[in-house]
Parts: sequence; C-alpha cells; structure tokens
Amino acid sequence: MDKKVTVVGAGNVGATAAQRLAEKELCDVALIDIIEGFPQGKALDLSEAAPIEKHDARLTGSNDYEASANSDIVIITAGIPRKPGMSRDDLLNINAGIMNSVTKEVAKRSPEAVIIVVSNPLDAMCHVAYETSGFPKNRVIGMAGVLDSARFRSFIAMELNVSVENTTAFVLGGHGDTMVPLPRYSTVAGIPITELLPKERIDALVERTANGGAEIVGLLKTGSAFYAPASAAVEMAESILKDKKKILPCAAYLEGEYGLNELFIGVPVKLGANGVEEIIEITLTSEEKAALEKSADAVRELKEALKKLA
Ligand code: NAI
Ligand code: 2OP
Repeated sequence: MDKKVTVVGAGNVGATAAQRLAEKELCDVALIDIIEGFPQGKALDLSEAAPIEKHDARLTGSNDYEASANSDIVIITAGIPRKPGMSRDDLLNINAGIMNSVTKEVAKRSPEAVIIVVSNPLDAMCHVAYETSGFPKNRVIGMAGVLDSARFRSFIAMELNVSVENTTAFVLGGHGDTMVPLPRYSTVAGIPITELLPKERIDALVERTANGGAEIVGLLKTGSAFYAPASAAVEMAESILKDKKKILPCAAYLEGEYGLNELFIGVPVKLGANGVEEIIEITLTSEEKAALEKSADAVRELKEALKKLA
C-alpha cells in the first residue's frame, strides 16, 4: 500500500482498528505495544487472515518505534483502564504519562503525520498529544464524536425501525457525561428526528447515547467498547488518507470557535489530507450553547488537573 498508519496500543481498540484498516486495504499497518510479543502476535494473526479476507495490506507488530517511521497517520490507543480504587485523577496521571511518552516516540519518527487520539480521558489526552508533539493544531484530532454519533444513530434506527444508513446524527462537546447530542441536527432521510419522535423518546435516546460507554462496560464487565470505537477511528483515518473531506464530529483545538479558547472539544470538522481542514460553526440554541459550555467546563477542569500534574 502507498499509505502507512501506525496504531499504538495493540489491545482491543488498536487491534480491531488495525484489522479494519487492513481489510479495507486503506494502508499498511504498524502495530506497536509495550508488551513483548503482543503486537507481533496480533499482526501475524491478522496477516494470516489476509488470504481469506483478500487484502494485500502489510501488517507488522513491534515493541520498537522504528517500525512506526514515516507514517501518514498515528492512532494512539495506548493506555490503561480505570481500576477499582483508582480515582479519575490517578487514571489521568497514568494515561497522561503514557500519552506523553508515546507521542514523543511517534512524533520524531513521523513528523508529518496526523495524530488521532483515542485513549481516555479523550479531550485531556488530546491536549497532551498536542503539547508534546508540537504539531500544528490541524494534525492532532480526538476520536469521540464519531463514536457517540454512531451510537445515537443506531438508537434512532432501532427506535424507528429504519435503516441505519438513513440516519445522521451530531454529538458535540467532551467525551463524557456532559456530551451534547443535538436532536435538531439528527435526521432520518433528511427529516429531523424532532419531526418523527416525541420529546420524551428523544430524551431517552439522548440519555442512552450519553451513557453509551458505560452501558457496554456494564455488560462486558472486563473492559470497554472496542468494535464501534475502532470503526470510528478508521472512518476518520479513511477520510484523511483518501482526502475525502468528510464532515465528522471530532475533538479539535478551538481558538475562538463556539466562543471557546485553547480547548480540545468535539465539534463538526472537515477531515482531509491535512487533518482538520475546517471547523464548521453551526448555530446553536441558547439551551444547546449552555450545554456545550457546561461540557467545556468539564474539559477545562481536566486540563487544569493536567497542569497540576506537570
Ligand atoms: P486495552 O487495554 O485493550 O489496550 C490498551 C493497550 O495499550 C494494551 O495492549 C497495553 O499494553 C497498551 N499500552 C499501555 N501502555 C503502553 C505504552 N506505554 N506504550 C504502548 N502501549 C501501551 O484497551 P482498549 O479497550 O483498547 O482501550 C484503549 C484506550 O482507548 C483506553 O484508554 C480506553 O478508555 C480508550 N477508549 C476511548 C474511546 C473513545 O471514544 N475515545 C472508546 C473506547 C476506548
Ligand atoms: C466509550 O465511550 C470507553 O470511551 C469509551 O466506550
């Protein structure tokens, strides 16, 4: 393949993203992880599926960042999940350290890459990757809105018994309880769902979307969602690799847009070969603005907690 994507973290999200990238023949894939043998095993297993899946993407696994050199995109999924007894600040501290060390390694070997951050807490990790890499703001992007919107879309399709392909949805804000699903901008075949569903059903779908990550954790018990998150990261990567210029909700660095400054938060962006090529400002009602502001406060709080750790 003439494009290369490195996926750091060969765990659930990382390995599934590698699988989807390869099976769509978007690029060659380098999988990197800290555990010896782990990325090598995943890459070999995925390579052995290639004759059956009929793709020629080359997959390599390594514990050495030299394997990541000259990537077009680096998707960072490295991190640890929150464990019993661990505070949010503990998790922030550990994952910020991981994000910092991973970003240093990849940025020096792929100085022109676009970084897609997946590790949680998402919006805070975007700040770490942005500051550590020194990359321009258009080349550091967080994945959350595509996932949260896909969840909202699937719940809309289930509710109305229609094809998911007919649905569109927008979820803005930080990746957490304060995310802002926007029913007015969510449609079925172009018809806003506010025309198709009563308010109480929309409220229920919005609440399910905001708790989407926790719902999966509650069911799986041993980890968090990974199929949909991997699909979401790959949709972003595909738009960049093919310069498709899709409008997708992503965590982007705002400098005045939506009245927010120096903050990564989910907004609609145009994704092309240069990463974030445009931030789309849509009109929000005063209620939606207030919800976005509340979400921004939650992200700012994490950003402040990061500063204290530094
Ligand atoms: P996982 O535990 O299956 O995989 C994480 C991998 O990172 C492990 O293989 C681990 O060995 C590796 N790792 C840890 N420290 C490392 C280091 N210093 N260098 C390289 N690799 C390292 O976890 P999973 O399910 O793949 O999730 C990964 C991250 O993505 C988590 O932080 C999770 O919360 C986050 N996530 C974010 C989503 C979003 O919407 N932004 C959605 C789903 C997951
Ligand atoms: C999710 O939303 C854990 O952030 C992850 O599933």
